Formats: sequence, C-alpha cells, structure tokens
Amino acid sequence: MEYVVYEQNGFIGTLTINRPKALNALNKQVLTEINEALDEICMCSLRCLIITGAGDKSFVAGADIGEMSVLNREEGTAWGKFGNDIFRRLETLPVPTIAAINGFALGGGCELAMSCDIRICSENAVFGQPEVGLGITPGFGGTQRLARIVGIGKAKEMIYTASNIKADEAYRIGLVNKVVPQEELMATAQKMAAKIASNAPVAVRLAKKAINEGLQVDMDKAIVIEECDFGDCFATEDQKEGMKAFLEKRKEKNFQNK
Ligand code: CAA
Repeated sequence: MEYVVYEQNGFIGTLTINRPKALNALNKQVLTEINEALDEICMCSLRCLIITGAGDKSFVAGADIGEMSVLNREEGTAWGKFGNDIFRRLETLPVPTIAAINGFALGGGCELAMSCDIRICSENAVFGQPEVGLGITPGFGGTQRLARIVGIGKAKEMIYTASNIKADEAYRIGLVNKVVPQEELMATAQKMAAKIASNAPVAVRLAKKAINEGLQVDMDKAIVIEECDFGDCFATEDQKEGMKAFLEKRKEKNFQNK
C-alpha cells in the first residue's frame, strides 16, 4: 500500500494514513487503501485499533479538493457514498477504535475522527468542517455525527460558519476525550488501548455494539438490546474467568476472547 501503513503490536493495531505531502488528504486511493487494510486486519486477534496520520502537522486535512473539483452531481453523490460506506464500516467495526489526532482534522479528517469511538488529540490539533466555504456540505458523515457528538447548536455553528476550533475548544465541547502534548499523543493512545485490551474482549465488543445500536432506537428498544448483549456475556468463558478472578481476589485475568 502506498498511503496506508498498518502495524500490529500484540492486541493493538495502528493504522497510519501516510500522505504527508498533502497533509494526509483523502483521495480515492487513500480511502481504497483504508478499506483494503480493514479487509486484511484479523479482527479475532485485535482488541483495539488506533488511527492516526503521518507527520506532526496533520491528522487528515480533508477529502482531496483537487480530485473533488471536477466532479458532477452523480459523481459527487457516489464519492459521498464511497467515503460514507468506509467510515460507517469503521464506526461499526467490532473492536473499539481510537483516533490519535496529531494536527489538522478538517472536513473528511474531522469526519474520520468522529467515526472512531474515542478521540485523543495533540495540543496543536485543529478541527473544523470547512466545506461550505468550498461550496459543498460535509459529505462523509459530518452533518450527522457532529450534531450527535457535540449537539445540534454547536454543530450547526461549526458547519455554517466553516470556522475551525482548536484543541482546547474541541475538548470543552466534547468533540475530543483528551488533549495531550504532541510528543505524548501516541503513548497516551497506546496506554488507553492497552487498558481496553486488558478487559474481556467479548464484553467490550458487545458494549460497543449495544451503545451504537441503542443510540439508533428509542429507550424501550435500546434497553432490550442491552439485555440481549448482557445475557450473551454469560455464555462466555471470559465472564466465568472475570468473576472467578474477583472471587479469588486475583488481579491477573486470563481473558481468551471466548
Ligand atoms: N485536498 C488536497 N490537497 C490538500 C488538502 C486537501 N483537503 N489539504 C492540504 N492539501 C495540500 C495542499 O494543496 C498543499 O499541497 P502543495 O504543497 O502541493 O501545494 C499541501 O497539502 C500543504 O498544504 P498547505 O500548503 O495549504 O499547508 P498550510 O499549512 O498552509 O495550510 C491547511 C494547512 C489550513 C490545512 C490548508 O492546507 C487547508 O485549508 N486545506 C484544506 C482543508 C479543507 O478545506 N478540508 C476540507 C476538504 S472538503 C471535505 O473534506 C469534504 C468532505 O466532507 C468529504
């Protein structure tokens, strides 16, 4: 792959978008390679996936404006669907995902980060949905996920004004979970990933599924989703091990993802 690097260390995978000359902007090839990388990752051996951008200036500076500049209506719709399908795949990946945002997260970059479960950014990070300044709407989920994460009023303000916000403001409005100095970014993401990976993988996956699916339906249906996932945990070896370890006052747990 030319623009995507995937490495796995134990249970933790790191997918790096590697097109630093264009601030990791998402052209068709980058998105295709992200999708292919997701095809190749063995989910059974993975407990957390970190997504980041190469270099110290940019996570992803958006969809590739040069490529988009020549699209007509049908091609624009298809391009939106292409990106949306990949980001939705990422959002519904069975394992938890952390976006480690090391600089610009604009347009498609902010949308990529919002498709991850957790966002950690460096102090130099900048977020925004600048699309209306380019004559388009956000097209990879920004009109939908931003409002769900930061609330309707703030999302509309950010999208209508096309104004960027800095890391501290992103933290204040709940767009990111944590802000850290740039040199600590990857270590912080890895530490959180390791903490997630130390818990029962089936339970973590079912918790992600329950949260994601429950948010799409009313509360009566949502709690039924939770009940089913909760019940499924009791059919796992990891539930036996987790509770046995507690009762034996044992700190070390031998979770098997079974
Ligand atoms: N598409 C294509 N190329 C991009 C790009 C993008 N989104 N963002 C940056 N680049 C390229 C620049 O063209 C430049 O290339 P050259 O060296 O060949 O000229 C290189 O990356 C470095 O960029 P700058 O020289 O502009 O760097 P800067 O530090 O002066 O500015 C920046 C950084 C503020 C992020 C600026 O590059 C910028 O505004 N980029 C565009 C951001 C943007 O509008 N993103 C949204 C795109 S639309 C979208 O994403 C739609 C959607 O929802 C799917």
